[in-house]
Amino acid sequence: MKKTKTKTKTKTKTTTTTKEVANKCSVQFLLNDQKVSIEAPSNITLLDLLRNQLGVKSPKCGCDVGDCGACTVILDGESIRSCLVLAPEVHGRKVVTLEGIMKKSEGEMSELQRYFLNKNSFQCGFCAPGIIVAATDLLEKNPHPTREEIVEGLSGNLCRCTGYTPIIDAVIDYIKQKS
Ligand code: FES
Ligand code: FES
Repeated sequence: MKKTKTKTKTKTKTTTTTKEVANKCSVQFLLNDQKVSIEAPSNITLLDLLRNQLGVKSPKCGCDVGDCGACTVILDGESIRSCLVLAPEVHGRKVVTLEGIMKKSEGEMSELQRYFLNKNSFQCGFCAPGIIVAATDLLEKNPHPTREEIVEGLSGNLCRCTGYTPIIDAVIDYIKQKS
């Protein structure tokens, strides 16, 4: 009898902790130049907030632990992995996703995206949004990177289909055309 009582107490404690973790918070930030104000669980990642609560589907969940780069977005001018950032951390900040990059091109593909398309850079396309966002950020900071700098700049974005050569070649072609 005594043992059963102890078990029941422990279970009640665990339930309370779960409720505390799931507390909601209010997050306001700029998403692709639009103000967003949303109530979200305080333990939700930016990736989940974007995909599941705001319907922004370009960031993908490849690993959810910061290894693959499929969830890459730009936060205050720096490309980051949105699976490693909690939603409350973006309060008052500026987030850009592939949708925002395309918005600048009036909803069409950006010029850089066209080069990826022309080079058949992607096969399944799962890694594409993260790589396009990372490459866009790279070129904004360094408009004329060397091949090595491009490889280094995109090294955090994994692609399991193409072997990377057509991805790097597309960025090189884009830079050549700009020069
Ligand atoms: S899903 Fe974020 S790095 Fe893989
Ligand atoms: S094209 Fe399939 S993972 Fe990159």
